Parts: sequence; C-alpha cells; structure tokens
Amino acid sequence: MHINELYDLENKIVLVTGGAGKFGRSIVEAFAEAGSQVIVSSRSMEKCKELADCYTKAGYKVDVIVYDQGSHESVLDLRKSIKEQFGRLDIFVNNAFSLPMLHYTDPLELWESSMKINGTGMFDIVREMAGLMAESGGGSIINISSMKASYSPDFDLYEGTDMDSPPDYNFHKAGMLGLTKYLAKKLAGQNIRINSISPGGLFANQQKEFLTKYCEKVPLKRMANNDDIKGVVIFLGSNASQYITGIDILMDGGLHS
Ligand SMILES: NC(=O)c1ccc[n+]([C@@H]2O[C@H](COP(=O)([O-])OP(=O)(O)OC[C@H]3O[C@@H](n4cnc5c(N)ncnc54)[C@H](O)[C@@H]3O)[C@@H](O)[C@H]2O)c1
Repeated sequence: MHINELYDLENKIVLVTGGAGKFGRSIVEAFAEAGSQVIVSSRSMEKCKELADCYTKAGYKVDVIVYDQGSHESVLDLRKSIKEQFGRLDIFVNNAFSLPMLHYTDPLELWESSMKINGTGMFDIVREMAGLMAESGGGSIINISSMKASYSPDFDLYEGTDMDSPPDYNFHKAGMLGLTKYLAKKLAGQNIRINSISPGGLFANQQKEFLTKYCEKVPLKRMANNDDIKGVVIFLGSNASQYITGIDILMDGGLHS
C-alpha cells in the first residue's frame, strides 16, 4: 500500500471526547485537517459548538454531540446519535477526564465522583463505542492516558506554587493502560485495535516557578505543545499502525528516558 494510503483518513468518522478541552482541540484539529468527519463531544454544547463552528467555517467537517460520561443513559444516547447521524464509527479518541480531586487530603466523596466518571464512565464509553465500531467491521481506539500512569508525580515541581497532583489521577491513568491491554486481545477478533498515549505536561501558562523547574528537567527543555499530539493520534488512528495493538506511546519529551 502506498504510504499516503496508509495514512489516509479522508471521510473516517472520528469521535473525540473532551474534544473542546486543551488536548482535545489539537486532536480534533488533527483529524479535521486529515479530512475526517469529526464529532466533538463533552458536556458543554456552548464550548463544543464554538470550536465546531470555527472549523466548519474553515471548510472542515466537525459536528457536535454532547454527552455526560457520568451517565450510562447519556453514553447510550451518544452511541445512538452517532449511528443515526453518521452510520458508523471508525476511530474513537477516549480523551475526556474529570478532575474533582485536587489534593491527596480531599474528601472521599470526590474520589467517588472521579471513580464514577473516570473509572466506570470511561469503561462504559469504551465498551459502547467498541460495540458500535464492531457493527461496521472494526476501527481504532486511542486512549489518552498520562505519563503519571507509569511514574509517580514529581512533587518537588509543585513547591512554591498552588498547584498539586491528586491521587485519583495516577490511579485512573494506570487503570486505563491495563484496560488497553485487556481490550487489545478482547477486541482483536472484531478488527478493533486499541492503543494509548501517555503525554507529559501540556503547556498551559502554568505558574513560572513550575514551568522553570519542569522545563529544566525535560531533556527536550519544554512542555508539550499543541502540535505534539497531532502526529501521534494520526499514526494510531490510521492504517499506518495497522499491526499495532495494546501498546502505549510515552510522549514526555524524554523526561522518563
Ligand atoms: N493537560 C495535560 O498536561 C495532560 C497531560 C497528560 C495527559 N493528559 C490527558 O489528556 C486528556 C485531556 O486533558 P486536558 O488537559 O485537555 O483536560 P481539559 O480539562 O482541558 O479537558 C477535559 C475534557 O473532558 C471533558 N469532561 C470532563 N468531565 C466530563 C464528563 N462527565 N462528561 C463528558 N466530558 C467530560 C471536559 O468537558 C473537557 O472537555 C485527559 O485524559 C488528561 O488526563 C493531559
């Protein structure tokens, strides 16, 4: 197959959850620029619509379906709407994440809220979207995890700032890697590949003390930028990675090399 054909994503139906968020926007942009029909999904119609309108005006195919990952009914509605409006799903980028906890000492209610959306809800949506993909012959799922799935937070980075690293984050991101491996074997027979990406910190105007220390520690001397994830999702979504399933790509500028 010609290399352009292997990377061809023209008219693929792509769902990006949390698509109006920081990483989500770059992922939406990548698939839109590749000629795919992108569905941006999160809880806020306003934010998703603003993003979709911007790409639609520029001639790209970006639509919105809102959902709440904390509700099974909402996940089922999302599956139904995709089927009705687009007929199938080819690529699912499992990117949404809720951050109810901010600190180790936060009340258990916040851990439970995180569990509902990032644990139960994350499994719910991946199982439903895999079911939808299977109906039309398969596809590719990309789980957005984090370097914190495999490495403990560097608490030194947060000293002198009001930033912190909550415990549920490492818990869910590590679980996502385990689920990726489980599903790689479970779904292979339905022609569904599933892989994950573990990014390092994305630049988002963090406090200066944090930025200076973080960039000093990273061999590439910077945080992730908005372009860094684009090539990785295109590779994992396309046939360029057709013999790859069940793996994780660490995208941390060499921090854990
Ligand atoms: N930003 C980083 O430095 C970084 C680093 C590594 C990994 N990640 C991962 O990248 C992904 C995106 O992170 P981000 O930084 O862009 O976060 P973000 O907060 O900007 O975006 C998260 C998105 O998830 C959506 N969301 C939250 N709860 C939801 C719910 N109940 N139902 C539906 N949607 C819901 C939000 O509306 C938002 O659009 C996450 O999985 C995160 O763990 C981020």
